[in-house]
Amino acid sequence: MRYDFDEIIERRGTRSEKWDTYPADVLPMWVADGDFKSPEPVTQAIIGAVHRGLFGYTIADGAFERAYAHWAASRYGWEADPDWVLWAPSLGASLATCIRAFSKPGGRVAMLSPIYPPFINLCYLNGRLPEQSALRDRGHGYAIDFADLEARLAHPDTKLLLLCNPHNPTGRVLSRRELERIGELCLRYNVIIFSDEIHADIVFKGKHVCFPTLSPELASITMVGMNASKTFNLADLRSAAIIASNPRLRQSFVSEIARCNVGRCSLGIAGVIAAYTRCADYADQLVPYLEANMRLAVDSFSSATTHISASMPEGTFLLWLNCKKMEMTQAELVNFFLAKAKVALNSGASFGKGGEGFMRLNVACPRATLRDGLRRIAKALAER
Ligand SMILES: Cc1ncc(COP(=O)(O)O)c(C=O)c1O
Repeated sequence: MRYDFDEIIERRGTRSEKWDTYPADVLPMWVADGDFKSPEPVTQAIIGAVHRGLFGYTIADGAFERAYAHWAASRYGWEADPDWVLWAPSLGASLATCIRAFSKPGGRVAMLSPIYPPFINLCYLNGRLPEQSALRDRGHGYAIDFADLEARLAHPDTKLLLLCNPHNPTGRVLSRRELERIGELCLRYNVIIFSDEIHADIVFKGKHVCFPTLSPELASITMVGMNASKTFNLADLRSAAIIASNPRLRQSFVSEIARCNVGRCSLGIAGVIAAYTRCADYADQLVPYLEANMRLAVDSFSSATTHISASMPEGTFLLWLNCKKMEMTQAELVNFFLAKAKVALNSGASFGKGGEGFMRLNVACPRATLRDGLRRIAKALAER
């Protein structure tokens, strides 16, 4: 079927984090939450479950695990066995679980920064040190500083690498060669990899390489984090998955998450199964829509101002804006967008090393909403 991503749905007053955090005159373009209606089979699957009117504890019957394995095989060419799939309430929770399971208190956890803020915060909250290897900004995209990354992985207290690919916030989709080099270093220094691939479906240029497909050796030290939430707007369904071929990694993960005694939600599971087994056409149509939105945003910055620059990302619906030429402090930048332009963006400073002077803009919204946001920013820049 044809999906209408131009449809505008009122989200204010729905306890939406994105829409109900800021005053009504502010257009929210921050948290990585899309404004598109989820595909109909997802809604119908949940309605079917709701109609029974019973919300008791649920068990694993294998359908959720098969759905994730099916998506990994059909979209990323990774023939994951459903037995390798572990349920988790969210990728955030599984990040925390991996930090606790695969590093020691006081130990170091490596990552490429700037980075999705919980990579950093969850290290601190769990008594670990985030080892941020800053990506090199080449002006037209970011590159890994392999010498710096190696030094951090070589540290005897570093036991875990949190990788994010496609990368939030820079939009880099790492190449096979880059991933192989990262993998070689992790093998050399005995570092486990948690590969957060939550944005894997949103790729404009090149192809997403699912980390364990690089080699069986690399698969044996890797756990992949997936969630249908970004592609199908299901963040509220709290039904993510961790996939690992190595039973020892799975066992460590399961033992750690068991300490929290969290349980599955059947409504979320029904939604994810529908998305991954019946809605591939939605993902196919969403990607070109997001790519066109992204181009519109990138072009608008190059025509509206020389003070903000953005290069076309290879993937994700997140645009990383270099605002250094605005010559403002980070607090002034945040205030400029919020109070003058009346758009809510994410402050680059929250993304760790390399984030100062940047802001992150989410383009996962109907085109008319995006145009409204871009116009607000252009107007505020003109009046500056
Ligand atoms: C890279 C990345 N990982 C994880 C998450 C959060 O996922 P979840 O809602 O499953 O915790 C996000 C959300 O923005 C993200 O961008």
